[in-house]
Amino acid sequence: MYDPKDLITLIKSHTPIIVVETTDELRVLDLLHYASDVLKMRLLKWSVVAGLVNIGAQRETYQSSLEPTEMLREIWNMKNSGIYVLLDFHPYISDARNIRLLKEIALTAGRYRQTIILLSQKIELPPELMVYTGKFELALPDEKMIQSIVENVLKKRLPSGNNQFSAVSPEIKKLIVKNLCGLSIPEIERITQRFINIPDITREVIADIAKSKYMILNKDSVLSFEYETADFDDIGGLTKLKQWLQKRRAIFLKEKKIQGSDVPKGILLLGVQGSGKSLAAKAVAGAWGIPLLRLDFGALYDKYIGETERRTREAFKMSDRMAPCVLWMDEIEKGIATENSDSGVSHRVLSTLLTWMAERKSCVFLVATANDIQSLPAELMRKGRFDEIFFVDLPDTNIRKEILTIHLEKRGMSVKDFDLDKLAHACEGFSGAEIEQSVVSALYAMSTESGILTNDILLQEMKATKPLSIVMAENVASLREWAKDRTVLAN
Ligand SMILES: Nc1ncnc2c1ncn2[C@@H]1O[C@H](COP(=O)(O)OP(=O)(O)O)[C@@H](O)[C@H]1O
Ligand SMILES: [Mg+2]
Repeated sequence: MYDPKDLITLIKSHTPIIVVETTDELRVLDLLHYASDVLKMRLLKWSVVAGLVNIGAQRETYQSSLEPTEMLREIWNMKNSGIYVLLDFHPYISDARNIRLLKEIALTAGRYRQTIILLSQKIELPPELMVYTGKFELALPDEKMIQSIVENVLKKRLPSGNNQFSAVSPEIKKLIVKNLCGLSIPEIERITQRFINIPDITREVIADIAKSKYMILNKDSVLSFEYETADFDDIGGLTKLKQWLQKRRAIFLKEKKIQGSDVPKGILLLGVQGSGKSLAAKAVAGAWGIPLLRLDFGALYDKYIGETERRTREAFKMSDRMAPCVLWMDEIEKGIATENSDSGVSHRVLSTLLTWMAERKSCVFLVATANDIQSLPAELMRKGRFDEIFFVDLPDTNIRKEILTIHLEKRGMSVKDFDLDKLAHACEGFSGAEIEQSVVSALYAMSTESGILTNDILLQEMKATKPLSIVMAENVASLREWAKDRTVLAN
């Protein structure tokens, strides 16, 4: 339940106990004031430091007890109609006397028009009280509201009275708002206050916001926040994949609606090791301007033995709350291989994954990568699981030139000083990672020789390299064969 009207309905329908879990206590109290006005009921608030106080229209004070059990006894004896809000009652809820007293109050609540509200950040209700209880969830602010909260915070603090937010480009503004989705009002205010004195609100600020949000939401999760993302410009080739992604960005971020087209859900990148799959996964987040979360299968299986499925479900829940985001499952075959001898755990992780993929409504884009299809379960590859399965093949001559250019320029060199045609020819059969590696090794060789990186040094390094595509020619060939009819080329 989200709407204030729902809260009123809950109270009106004589729900004896209402649980509200939130970090935004003040907003719930505001809502309760409103409800008590509408319903013409008294509103009383209890906390362990202030006791029971009437905070409704007619203020009365009680000689009330600070002690939780005594306070419940008072409410039970009072037999007075009212909304009783108990702040942070969760540490006392498991006490047998308190359970019984709450039950007594609940049993006669209809007759005396009493409603108990348990307002805490988190509260675990004993089963005895479940049947008497309703749950109210505070709606998280929508995008419009987030925008006004951010504007408000920034306006308040600027001495000139100017709105710092108004100078920000619309595109960045939208991304800021998107990245604050899923948080409560005080959390949004707290994060926003951190960039009050930053003169230029740019993409770096957005990464910072996403990181703060992750830290607020993350509770010992197997999802890691990847600060380092990439851009499409960092990748040589993969042109079809880039185009595919570019076309879908606006639809994914709900900036645009296209009749009949579904919201993009995710892709699988399949290919030989070192072909740039992990890099591409990072670039989806970078190019779309949303946070990147990585599911760490290693931690899932090693660190949390016996808790693997619960951790998996939690990770998905967490990614839903971080939305919009990219959820990256690197080398997925290692997490959900079919032949693991782990007594079915990885199978159950797989079914948790499939369920989440089928049912989720959240704005989470899944990017899975795999080097090997042999051990990937057939259920995962079935049509409709992913929007597309891309095959990342070894780079052709032109793409090898692009990759060489990227890695030479990244290290401060100019491609004009090199014979790209010759080099690209020399590294036939290399993966992107192997091309990069030959540039790196050539730089080492150079430092011991002339101190200048020449074409010849690079050529020598390339000749000395035995690429995986030759060492493991059979595997590469069978991967290609498999991919032929089942996947789309990424290049
Ligand atoms: N197409 C490419 N363009 C530019 N660099 C690449 C490309 N492919 C691989 N690399 C380089 O090799 C590194 C390792 O590649 P990676 O993305 O980890 O490959 P994979 O995940 O397919 O095994 C990348 O970080 C990047 O520096
Ligand atoms: Mg990888």
